[in-house]
Amino acid sequence: MGDPRALSREAALRLGPPQWKHACHALLYAPCPERLFGKIPLRFAVLMQMRFDGRLGFPGGFVDLRDTSLEEGLNRELREELGPGAASLHIAELDYMSSHASENPQRVVAHFYAKQLCLDELRTIEEGATRAKDHGLEVMGLVRVPLYTMRDGVGGLPAFLSNTFIGNARDQLVHALETFQLVPREQLQKAVSTAQK
Ligand code: APR
Ligand code: MG
Ligand code: MG
Repeated sequence: MGDPRALSREAALRLGPPQWKHACHALLYAPCPERLFGKIPLRFAVLMQMRFDGRLGFPGGFVDLRDTSLEEGLNRELREELGPGAASLHIAELDYMSSHASENPQRVVAHFYAKQLCLDELRTIEEGATRAKDHGLEVMGLVRVPLYTMRDGVGGLPAFLSNTFIGNARDQLVHALETFQLVPREQLQKAVSTAQK
């Protein structure tokens, strides 16, 4: 079997403990009208985090299937990792995007969510992030994803995609950028192929 492999939410929920652990992560984004250097449109602000293991990923983490729903577990992890600015953030089943099961290095089912906020809400989260319980521990800092490609064809999104990501976070990011049209399709395809070279 491929690792990770995509599966439906129902099939994913049938993979129970103790063999399988479940984790939920969320992509938060907001329309952003600002321009870099007064020229390059930012289009959207998309949040990721630098993790404790030096890889990029999304906020979220392990959930316990026995005593909470996936979304309850996700919202708890988001409060721990994002801090006071996320107090009124609530991710619901409606925000669910996908599930992937992987066997290596351990059996984990990763569920992925995405939610659009307004820029003020996203900024509030960023401002509170250094006061999060996990700041400096599990989370080394929040980052925004550069969605543009600079004139050299590499700076911006292609260079960002060349980083190391946890699990299938890179694919989750690219899929969300495509689904919500956060980057024009042709530009996204080019950035992905440049980053793979
Ligand atoms: N896509 C797919 N899988 C992911 C993603 C992602 N975007 N992000 C993380 N994972 C997988 C990884 O395998 C990861 O180890 O889910 C697992 C749990 O996610 P974390 O966010 O790392 O978990 P968290 O609950 O926040 O805890 C962090 O503390 O208790 C320890 O050992 C535990 O590694 C864990 C760490
Ligand atoms: Mg955590
Ligand atoms: Mg985490």
